[in-house]
Amino acid sequence: MQRQMPKTFFIRTYGCQMNELDTEIMVGQLTQKGLKQVFDEKQADMMLFNTCSIRDLAERKVMGKIGQISRRTKNRPIIGVTGCMAMAKKETLFRKLPHVDFVLGTNNITDLSNVLDEVIHLGQKSIRTTDQFEENLDYLVAKRGDKIKAHVSIIRGCDKFCTYCVVPYTRGQEVSRPLEDIKEEVRMLADQGYKEITLLGQNVNSYGKDQPEWKTLFHDLLYHLDAIDGIERIRFLTSHPIDITEELMHAIATLPSLCEFVHFPIQAGSSRVLKKMHRIYTKEQYFEKVELLKKIVPNVSLGTDIIVGFPTETEEEFCETLDVFKQIRYSVAFLYTYSPRKGTPAMRWKDDISDEVKNDRLHRLMDLHSSIAAEHRQKLLNTSIEVLVERQNKDGYLCGRTRCWKKVIFKGPASLIGTLQNVHLHSCNHETLVGGLHLSN
Ligand code: SAH
Ligand code: SF4
Ligand code: F3S
Repeated sequence: MQRQMPKTFFIRTYGCQMNELDTEIMVGQLTQKGLKQVFDEKQADMMLFNTCSIRDLAERKVMGKIGQISRRTKNRPIIGVTGCMAMAKKETLFRKLPHVDFVLGTNNITDLSNVLDEVIHLGQKSIRTTDQFEENLDYLVAKRGDKIKAHVSIIRGCDKFCTYCVVPYTRGQEVSRPLEDIKEEVRMLADQGYKEITLLGQNVNSYGKDQPEWKTLFHDLLYHLDAIDGIERIRFLTSHPIDITEELMHAIATLPSLCEFVHFPIQAGSSRVLKKMHRIYTKEQYFEKVELLKKIVPNVSLGTDIIVGFPTETEEEFCETLDVFKQIRYSVAFLYTYSPRKGTPAMRWKDDISDEVKNDRLHRLMDLHSSIAAEHRQKLLNTSIEVLVERQNKDGYLCGRTRCWKKVIFKGPASLIGTLQNVHLHSCNHETLVGGLHLSN
C-alpha cells in the first residue's frame, strides 16, 4: 500500500537510559527530515515504539499498546518498532503485529530515514536488524528534552553474557566510541550550558578494552572529560563490579566533577547464585572492592540492581542478599523478580521459584531498602548540601539533586535553575529532602 510521508510523529520510549538517548537521536534525525514531534498520539501520522526486552512485562506493555493502535480503522498511523524488542523478535514482529510497518534494530538507528523512505515510496514493510554495531551514529543530532543534564554514550553493547540477560543479544558486542568524538560532544554540551553529563554504556568500565591501540581506558577518559570547562558534574551508568578498578576509584576521589556515587550492581548475595548468573565475582570479591572503594572515596554512596528468585535460589541464599544489603546500606536500588528471557542461557533451567515466593522476596527486600533509605535521609537533616537546580515544580519549589543522587526541593527564584546551590536540609517529604537556601549563598 502506498503511503504518504508523515508530517508528525509520536515516540514512546521504554527501558533504560540508553534507549532514552537513542530516542533523542531519532527525534533529531526526524526533525532534520522535516517531521514534527507531537506529544498527543492522536495527532501523529507516525508512531514509533523504542522498546525494551529486559523483562517479560516490558515486552507485554508494548505488544498491548501496538495492538490497541492497530485496531484503529480510521487514520491508522505508520507504526515503527525500534530498540531491543526489534532485535529480540526481528521478523516475527510482523507476524505478531501485522500493522507494524517497519522494524529497526538498536544497531541501525542511522538507517531510520532510509527505512521510512522504503515504507513510503516502495509501499512495503522494511526491517534492519544488524547484530553488530558500527560506530557511524551521529550523536550530535540528538534533540534533548533537558537543558541542564545530558546523556552521553561512550560504549555500546555488552560482552558479559550474564545468564539471565538479553542485552548481549539485543545490543551486540562492545564497541567503544572514539575519545575525540566524546570530547567534542561534551564540549558542545558545555557550550550549550549543560551542567551535568551521565556517561552511558551497559558496562562503562569496559571503555577502551575493545580498542587496545587507543591506550585509553575508562579512568583515562574521565580525566579528559573532567578537564572540560563548564561541566560541573559527571556521572556514569552502569558499572560491572569486575571492571571497577583502583584507577577508577582514584579518579572518583580526585576529579572535582566526578560525583561520589557508584552504581555497583551486585545482582545477588550468594556466591553460588552469582556463579550461576555468570557474574564472574564472588560475594567476597565484591565486598573487597566495596571496602577498597570506601577507603579511597570515604564519602561514596552506592547503588545496586538485584534480581530475586533466580532459578534454584533458596530462602537461605535470598537471606544472604538481605544481609549484603544491610551491610552495604545501598542508597539507590533497583529491585526485580527474575523473568526468563528467550535465547538466554538461564532458559535451560526451570523457572522454579513461584511468583508468590518471588514477590514475597521482592517485598522483603523493598521494605529493607525503604528503611535504609529513610535512615540515609534522616542523617542528612540539619546539614547543608550542594544541589544542582534542575527545574521549578508547579508548586513553585525548585527541584534538584545532590551529588549522590538524592532529590531535594527548596523555595527560590527560577533564575537559580542550572546553578549549584548550597541547601540547608530541614525535613523530608516521602523520598524527597526539603530545605532552604543556605544563608551564605
Ligand atoms: N548492564 C547493567 C544492567 C542492564 S539491565 C549491569 O550489568 O549492571 C538492568 C537490570 O535489569 C540488571 O542489572 C538486572 O538487575 C535486571 N535484569 C536483567 N535481566 C533480567 C531478567 N531476565 N529478569 C529480571 N531482571 C533482569
Ligand atoms: Fe546484562 Fe550482564 Fe551485560 Fe549487564 S553486564 S547488560 S546484566 S549481560
Ligand atoms: Fe531494555 Fe535494551 Fe535497555 S533490553 S534495559 S532497553 S538495553
